[in-house]
Amino acid sequence: MTDKSWRFGQEELMYVKEVLDSGLGASTYGTMNTRLEKAFSKRFGVRYGITHNSGTSTLHSCLAAAGVQPGDEVISPALTVISNAFVTLHQNAVPVFADIDPETFNMDPVDVERKITSRTKAIMPVHLYGLPCDMAPIMALAEKHDLIVIEDAAQCFLGEYHGRLAGTIGHMASFSFENTKHLSAGDGGIVITDDERLAEAVRAFACMGYSVVSAESGQVRSKAFAFQDPNFKRHTSLGWQYRMPEVAAALGMAQLERIDMYVSKRQAIWKMYAEALSDCPYIRPQLVPEGYKSACWTFAAVYDGEEAIGVSWMDFAQKFQEISGEGIYAAWSVVYLEPVMAERKFYGRGCPVEPPYYNGEINWKPGLCPVAESIQPRLMQFKCNIGTLEEARQQVDALRQTIEYFGAAVH
Ligand SMILES: Cc1ncc(COP(=O)(O)O)c(C=O)c1O
Repeated sequence: MTDKSWRFGQEELMYVKEVLDSGLGASTYGTMNTRLEKAFSKRFGVRYGITHNSGTSTLHSCLAAAGVQPGDEVISPALTVISNAFVTLHQNAVPVFADIDPETFNMDPVDVERKITSRTKAIMPVHLYGLPCDMAPIMALAEKHDLIVIEDAAQCFLGEYHGRLAGTIGHMASFSFENTKHLSAGDGGIVITDDERLAEAVRAFACMGYSVVSAESGQVRSKAFAFQDPNFKRHTSLGWQYRMPEVAAALGMAQLERIDMYVSKRQAIWKMYAEALSDCPYIRPQLVPEGYKSACWTFAAVYDGEEAIGVSWMDFAQKFQEISGEGIYAAWSVVYLEPVMAERKFYGRGCPVEPPYYNGEINWKPGLCPVAESIQPRLMQFKCNIGTLEEARQQVDALRQTIEYFGAAVH
């Protein structure tokens, strides 16, 4: 087992101790959450941050704040985690899938435009594997059709799009602090936005619809006097309990202080893989277009070895592992081909994709997003979440040796 002790350090212990010493007085957004919200939003140069217990609940709160109603449509990419589709369904809205660009693997704005209807309410571009989406055409479409854009930056801390930080371009953005992400709080997430009305709506949704929350603060008991009035009415809108625990926020605070190191280390490791593959004609890395900076969550590439050298994905991956590689990660299935989606297993649970909510045609079948379907089975992800460059070098060397083992195709 590789050493994982690099992930957390003394600073985490210091902040966690501070939280524990405080006696955890409040069950609502506490002091450490407020500090993390302020520090994170400051780092991204936006006005508001609202911490959550995951990078999925963040997306749900964003949809609610965007005013997504039963039967509305929300466009997200065909190739991503299931979270985007699930929160859309939980909002009784209809997930609509846009195809991806074959080079960047990110949502293709041309297909987004094709998928917009009079029922479309929001677009969720996902900055896949740390690479920002092509945001300019997406924002132009949003402006033209009056749509809300929610950037899913779970994998993209400090990625840049033409000089702008990913997560600061859309109306709201969501980050995840799940353990494989650039910053880990064990689990957790944060929404950032510059829009006060959206920030307040996100926080209210994530905090049981409390009447006293504001864009800046969720510390409902700071208004203790009013709170203890027997006539006080607490809940003015429907919400969830999506708050981030204070101990997790303490981890997040310490990790945020090292954000530049975490991101630049992954970028350096990404570069090492890219260099190792520079003369390999059958593994094609995710394209980082001019003007983009990837946060390099992972090194993703399309494997064409089956055609080029007659070696299957699985055989290549197995050999890599035999030669001390830690493992090659496959991409998620195309979202609409997951059984829960394809078989509509949510039917009868407020299912929005049947009348009366929705009378359009749902076509979650093979062929819907041909580029995603063609890329997905060939995708390989190599880990950038590694403690040191020396350890990363071992992985890169294992990749070189695997290529050399399979021989002649390397020029
Ligand atoms: C692109 C993307 N969006 C959202 C999420 C959901 O984040 P979480 O696991 O914190 O709920 C993930 C996590 O894997 C992700 O990769």
